[in-house]
Amino acid sequence: MPKIDPIILAIETSCDDTSASVTKGRKLLSLKTISQSDHKDYGGVVPELASRLHQQNIVSVVDSALKEACISQEGLNSIAFTRGPGLLGSLLVGTCFAKSMALALGLPLIEVNHLQAHVMSLFVDGDNDPKFPFLCLLVSGGNTMLIKVTDSLTMEVIGETLDDAIGEAFDKACKLMNLSYPGGPIIDKFAKRGRAIFDFPEPKVPDLNFSFSGIKTFLYYFLKKGIRKDLYFIDNEIFNICASYQAALVRIVINKLKAAIELTNITNIGVVGGVSANSLLRSELEDLAYKYNLVLSIPNLEYFTDNAAMVAVTAYFKYMNTQFIDPSVSPIANYTN
Ligand code: KG4
Repeated sequence: MPKIDPIILAIETSCDDTSASVTKGRKLLSLKTISQSDHKDYGGVVPELASRLHQQNIVSVVDSALKEACISQEGLNSIAFTRGPGLLGSLLVGTCFAKSMALALGLPLIEVNHLQAHVMSLFVDGDNDPKFPFLCLLVSGGNTMLIKVTDSLTMEVIGETLDDAIGEAFDKACKLMNLSYPGGPIIDKFAKRGRAIFDFPEPKVPDLNFSFSGIKTFLYYFLKKGIRKDLYFIDNEIFNICASYQAALVRIVINKLKAAIELTNITNIGVVGGVSANSLLRSELEDLAYKYNLVLSIPNLEYFTDNAAMVAVTAYFKYMNTQFIDPSVSPIANYTN
């Protein structure tokens, strides 16, 4: 019989954030994250470097999450971890750590799908839960998806990117323009000082799927052409380029979200993932909410990028359904279920 308010330690290491969280029932007792800044020089996450840094950081992150929660290892009821999707080397660090701890302490182990955890980040605080069913727009560095969420453990992907994720499109554009990483916040900031005066084509992708690689290639040739005419084209036009490119990316997701609302008649909308910080996306979402009478839910800033609190809250629902996993489990880089 599961405990009513289980104390769960959750570990997230799917990409470049080493994160641990302790929850009691749905109450968050602690969340500790070390974000790896060492990738900045490379314009993107270097997988080998990421797993080495997780290895260095995981003991201290878990230790400080337990300390802040004032929970000893013996006080835990379960250990949860992100099984995938993500970078295999990074996932291996969190998976092995969680498995070892569960075996050593004789605790049940819970595996969590990273994308499901992103959706469940809407439930971390517990006082503003979205109502079921809802449509969740997941916009992150690794994924862009539309998910129909029927209950806390039942989700169906109704649209997804066929190539790059929207966050990747922001990050790769910055690399093309010699700006820093991650690109999203920089483009967002620069776009505020410019106007969307350049036209970027909207990709013709069927159904509710997305594509972002064409627009990135378009940017590459657009910059090349601009530089041919004016060597300082990027410097001179950086704010307008950022505003135009950002407007095009946001238009893609807003149009697909609109189509999903019309198709499903679902008006409860959740938006999760790092790109939900984008200011243009937020203002377009508010306009859409007004027009379609939507109820919008967006998690607090600290829960919408990769973090272990969203893993812990997903694990809570799995614990209550006694969905445990054998410790022989392995991570899955392209985990889809
Ligand atoms: O959810 P997250 O941590 O993604 C994964 O690691 O998968 O989000 C990171 C992504 C990066 O691509 C970053 O450029 C983007 O979120 N991002 C933004 C903004 N803040 C972060 N993109 C657009 N506008 C922002 N303000």
